[in-house]
Amino acid sequence: MSRIETLLSKMSLAEKLGQLTMTAASYAVTGPVIAGDSTQSIRDGTIGNLLNMVGADHVREMQRLALEESRLGIPLLIGFDVIHGHRTLFPIPLAEACSFDPRLWALTARESAKEAAADGLAMTFAPMLDVSRDPRWGRSAEGPGEDPWLGARIAEAKVHGFQGHDLAAPQALAAVAKHFCAYGPVTAGREYASVDISERTLREVHLPPFAAALAAGAAAVMPAFTDLAGVPMTANVALLRGWLREQHGFEGVIVSDYNAIAELMHHGIAADLAQAATLALKAGVDIDMMSDAYRRGLPVALTRGWVSVAEIDGAVRRVLALKERLGLFADPFARGASAEAPEAITARRELARTVAARAIVLLKNDKSVLPLTSVGLRLAVVGPLADASADMRGPWWGAAGPKGHVTVLEGLRGMLGESGVSHARGVDIDGEDTSGMAAALDLCGLADAIVLCVGEAATMSGEAASRAHLGLPGAQREFAEAVFERCKALHKPVIVVLFSGRPLVVPWLVEKADAVLAAWFLGSEAGNAIGDVLLGHVSPSGRTAVTWARAEGQIPIFFGQRPTGRPADPKDHYTSKYLDVPNEPLFPFGFGLTYGKFTHSNLRVPQGGVARTDTLAIRVDVTNAGARAAEDTVFLFTHDKLASVARPVLELKAFGKIGLKPGETGTVTLLLPAAELRFLGLDLSPTFEAGEVEILVGPCADRRQLLVASIQLSSG
Ligand code: GLC
Repeated sequence: MSRIETLLSKMSLAEKLGQLTMTAASYAVTGPVIAGDSTQSIRDGTIGNLLNMVGADHVREMQRLALEESRLGIPLLIGFDVIHGHRTLFPIPLAEACSFDPRLWALTARESAKEAAADGLAMTFAPMLDVSRDPRWGRSAEGPGEDPWLGARIAEAKVHGFQGHDLAAPQALAAVAKHFCAYGPVTAGREYASVDISERTLREVHLPPFAAALAAGAAAVMPAFTDLAGVPMTANVALLRGWLREQHGFEGVIVSDYNAIAELMHHGIAADLAQAATLALKAGVDIDMMSDAYRRGLPVALTRGWVSVAEIDGAVRRVLALKERLGLFADPFARGASAEAPEAITARRELARTVAARAIVLLKNDKSVLPLTSVGLRLAVVGPLADASADMRGPWWGAAGPKGHVTVLEGLRGMLGESGVSHARGVDIDGEDTSGMAAALDLCGLADAIVLCVGEAATMSGEAASRAHLGLPGAQREFAEAVFERCKALHKPVIVVLFSGRPLVVPWLVEKADAVLAAWFLGSEAGNAIGDVLLGHVSPSGRTAVTWARAEGQIPIFFGQRPTGRPADPKDHYTSKYLDVPNEPLFPFGFGLTYGKFTHSNLRVPQGGVARTDTLAIRVDVTNAGARAAEDTVFLFTHDKLASVARPVLELKAFGKIGLKPGETGTVTLLLPAAELRFLGLDLSPTFEAGEVEILVGPCADRRQLLVASIQLSSG
């Protein structure tokens, strides 16, 4: 008999329910309910999983308790939110998406896994794969941006990165694809609010990243807190049992979100904990994170005949199987057994610096004011985010403390010397105190250029951080306007470094600045990466993975919208537009300047009929007409202009990169499997329709900047 069946045959109900329970230790608080001390429960075998415990010593002790002092010696599964790094932080996921570099996406996940496993962890509650088109929602910061195809590519890279080739390896973490699913379109961008979208949008936009995560072998899935058209995901039989387990054959573990099972009562579909536990178990949720609904509710549900021991055993089997796949039975102390070598940490910091520089999106660079020449340069670095180490982390900072993350001031002083770089905060990130503005403005006169560091605090995005106003918080706008006014009079350039977990709505800032870098939250090497870009050590190559609205009223705004029956026409009153704002975004998806000047030409697509089994090689020439070497990213979009269902005006299908010296021309080849041109027909089943499909290639999701050709799909 297998180990799992042997254990199962010996386990009491309390021990079984213990394996279906995950309780938080006290290292970090990531939800509304706080657990007490779990050590006795571990000894009793009535807790089998922990979260928010960090530190090899603590983990080793808890595993020892489970192994040596509990009746059956089942090892603990210990998870943590290793979202964009563990102790060494990489850019937040939204920022990393802007690098459009799958190799780096996988690499940072791998490095994060190594660091977390060295701390004894075996699971991360990542990647977060919620497509978001509403920047009011704070969790846009944690996700892959607005596009499902990009989200799917990120899902693959992150699952492979976190899990490595062998889940039992001491440096492997079980990846948890979350939050399944369609958490992004919460009503009005308000956190945890209800979600009600079409079945088509669910399948075309929100499920593809999860399908990719499953295909990549994700070990676990976490349902979203939210309901979907009245059915909370934690109890959603159609999507958990139906789509996930039956349709996609997912045999891994489904772990609830924090207290989510008990919250089925707030959702209004469970009268008590027993009913909540029943609904979740029936839907396929194996582990109850933090609500204790399984331990307290399932015994009652059993007596009421609502669930069976067999259903409980099914969940226990999946949890034990994951622990076995992770090698926890073989050696529960393998993870955290040895500290990492210092050179591994150093190399990781270097990687963090490289990735951070590639995540920066240069939004404006008037008169090529950037890069700054560093010889004898005097800078005034002002603003509340100029020297804010803790905020460089961004949301979900894992086990990284508030200090040690390079600030803009530290980075620039490290490159230019202390005397070359003056500093004053001016104002705080939030609050109305402007008493510090004068001192900051006085610095402008003594500098050759001003670096104005503004934006959000790390806690203003991420979970429970929706914002209805998406400008600069506090008195930052007043401060920025004063800096622009002073510097205009002094004829000094102002370079804005904008920190945020979302695309802020700041058209006035972009208008008045000479240059603007979207720095998102870049992690532990933020200041060095920003310095590298400002001083030209690195040419910026980031491209925004989300559309930037010019007004909150445009939200949700994204490139993959379906056509309207009345396309915007400024000369025709009765067409799709606003009275007070242009339809166009402030910056389209894919936008990002470099220190080169790229042009695109000579788009080549295969001629003749295209069969569904073909893979098209689409080529475009890229020329760097600029004065500096730089890297360009080219996007491939399609538009199916005539189909049985109205298709989005642009669908992202591929991207490619090319580095070119000044004056050089190269060719980018983009591969497009024709099968990718299938879509969900009227009956929502995949269909491949003959006919013309536009191929659009260029620098961003702005049709006016794209080269267009057509291919003919044959029905064959
Ligand atoms: C939080 C988040 C989830 C996280 C979990 C554990 O509430 O919704 O993303 O993984 O709880 O911290």
